Amino acid sequence: MVLRQTLLAASGSDRLRTLVAGTRVTRGVVDRFVAGERAEDAVRAAGELAEYDLLSSIDHLGEDADHPARTEDVTKGYLRLLRLLDDSGLTSWAEVSVKPTAMGLGLGEEGETLAVENLGRICAAAAEVGTTVTVDMEAARNVPATLRVVARLRARYPWVGCVLQSYLHRTEGDTAAVAAEPGARVRLCKGAYAAERGSAYTDRREVDAAFVRSLRRLMTSRAYPMVATHDSRLIDIATTLARRYGRTYDDFEYQMLYGARPTEQRRLASLGARVRVYVPYGTDWYGYLVRRVAERPANAAFAARQVLTR
Ligand code: FDA
Repeated sequence: MVLRQTLLAASGSDRLRTLVAGTRVTRGVVDRFVAGERAEDAVRAAGELAEYDLLSSIDHLGEDADHPARTEDVTKGYLRLLRLLDDSGLTSWAEVSVKPTAMGLGLGEEGETLAVENLGRICAAAAEVGTTVTVDMEAARNVPATLRVVARLRARYPWVGCVLQSYLHRTEGDTAAVAAEPGARVRLCKGAYAAERGSAYTDRREVDAAFVRSLRRLMTSRAYPMVATHDSRLIDIATTLARRYGRTYDDFEYQMLYGARPTEQRRLASLGARVRVYVPYGTDWYGYLVRRVAERPANAAFAARQVLTR
């Protein structure tokens, strides 16, 4: 837990970012968890996943935009990505995931309005090509504003997905609220960010127990649960709950990250389950990768072995 907190604190350090960026081990971790630098790389990865009946949700890496001009660049990147997906005939396989702080959330008082505008443009483009958008959840301080943004988008695009993090104390209340919306697409995960003291469970068993409580609430509701975990125990519980509450494989989905448990992703898909892989691409991978190593230090060790034994 201490290592996790230290690593998550490091995710904001520019000095460390420069220091690690050039190493071979870092390159190994990037290659494993990131589809590539360009939108074309992500589209190629989505096509390869589709060959195994795996759906995807593509994320243009980058967060905490420090200027409206930067949010415009990222928005245009998503619009281009959606066009590429359409050209490749992949829109029934791939959707997009978007970080609200890359859209403007956090840029002062106007930031929330800017995020709704930018995300609205991405949603309109997604609707045009026949796919969907999920709004990622970031640090705890952004949760209320992100839920407001999602609610405003859903008034126009009811298929917009949101994310809930079981490590936050507030999440069971949020789950009850979103579960009341028929068809609401809700990705449930444990949570990957450093949380303010007192706002989150710190014991893994408590995080897991809270995950199961929210999962049960979603499975018994009319929402569409998206179960985002690599944890075999939670995957089994999701399968059992879905069966118990009469859900077929079309009524919920499993989600995992690109590069994490690919064999398990394919195994679930081969059973007929809907499995969606979160596919990040871009050059701004530092924060994303630090979170992967924080949640599982073995991810760095694995990549280091791959590089050093090459
Ligand atoms: P955890 O990290 O607790 O691991 C449990 C067990 O799973 C491990 O002991 C191991 O057995 C197995 N395992 C985990 N990773 C493995 C690997 N790479 N290889 C093999 N086994 C592995 N977070 C957030 O805050 N906001 C968000 O918007 C999202 N979005 C998101 C989308 C998707 C599709 C996923 C899968 C995850 C997220 N997350 C997220 C990240 C999430 O909150 C969480 O940090 C990670 O999924 C890690 O937690 P796990 O539930 O996988 O279990």
